[in-house]
Amino acid sequence: MKVGIIGLRMGRAHLIGYLQNPHTEVYGICDIDENTLKKVKEEYNIPFATTDYRDLMQIKDIEIISVASPDYFHKEHSVSALLSGKHVLCEKPLALNLEDCIEIIKAVKKSGKKFMIGQVCRFAPGFVLTKEIIDSGEIGELFFVESEYAHDYRVAEGVGKWRKDPRREPFIGGGCHAVDLIRWIAGDPIETFGYANHKCLIDWPVNDATIGIYKFENDIIGKVFCSIGCIRPYTMRSVFYGTKGTIISDNTSDHILLCSTRYFKIKSEYNFVKIPVSISHHNVSAEINYFVEKIIKDEKVEMDAIEGTKTVAVCLGTIISARENRKVNIKKELFSQFLDI
Ligand SMILES: NC(=O)c1ccc[n+]([C@@H]2O[C@H](COP(=O)([O-])OP(=O)(O)OC[C@H]3O[C@@H](n4cnc5c(N)ncnc54)[C@H](O)[C@@H]3O)[C@@H](O)[C@H]2O)c1
Repeated sequence: MKVGIIGLRMGRAHLIGYLQNPHTEVYGICDIDENTLKKVKEEYNIPFATTDYRDLMQIKDIEIISVASPDYFHKEHSVSALLSGKHVLCEKPLALNLEDCIEIIKAVKKSGKKFMIGQVCRFAPGFVLTKEIIDSGEIGELFFVESEYAHDYRVAEGVGKWRKDPRREPFIGGGCHAVDLIRWIAGDPIETFGYANHKCLIDWPVNDATIGIYKFENDIIGKVFCSIGCIRPYTMRSVFYGTKGTIISDNTSDHILLCSTRYFKIKSEYNFVKIPVSISHHNVSAEINYFVEKIIKDEKVEMDAIEGTKTVAVCLGTIISARENRKVNIKKELFSQFLDI
């Protein structure tokens, strides 16, 4: 299958993923920066390159489009690709507001094409193993889940400083990783309360730290912390507490820590076992292999537009709560806007 890619920084990771996949060939690339475009075209010997994404849509042979442009363009680029008859892999977050997410959901339905949201943490080896252990029942029933996205954005403003735009709430832009992770493992939260402050990146137009507290359907409670001004290396440290054990998992660590009653019985103290995992916090190749397989086998993509919208909606609930100082009922106020489309 021929592939087109829009946006060539994160899109470069997509490009490498498609090059490694035996079923795909990168035929076209797009970036508004001519130097980047030229460099990538020459480096990877790509047949077609353009600064206008609409040119890719005209090429009938292109079956898959990867959208790796800044967040504000996800809706425009995804909808255009879908309605041009292409399957779409779109970078997270799906969009920055529910209206755009809903337009993407409608375009997926209208086109009948496959759509995947690139919530890449669902492919990080440590998180994959964490979910497998939890699903096996090893740590019993979950009662508390927490994750954090701590990433100093002083060095990640984005080309043209697009991450500094006031429309880009960090709790959606980056926090969506942690929110999606706890949703994937614990299910959908029903209610949220949020708090936010703005003490680190004072020249940025948005709150730089946000915490979301959650109540889930199956009596699990949870928390997500997101900071883009913290002074520390990037981390997504996450902890899953069950009635029979606990897992501490971080996509920057070469192991996960598992504590369970099984080990407690042996030593009569809370010993952990360290389970080695490979560090691949941006396992885009696995994400692409999954998507290509789903297209070939014509199977349902788990991380579809509804999943992407649910994650954005949960993030929005926390932001609204922090802004309005009230509890937000996620299902009634947010999910109800798109689940019946
Ligand atoms: N999955 C992850 O963990 C992860 C990591 C980083 C970024 N992302 C996402 O990937 C997307 C891109 O982020 P990035 O870090 O590569 O940003 P970036 O600013 O480093 O690069 C964006 C690229 O897109 C190009 N571009 C901008 N507007 C464009 C347009 N209208 N058409 C074509 N090209 C355009 C820019 O010239 C630049 O080369 C964002 O949605 C971001 O949230 C995801």
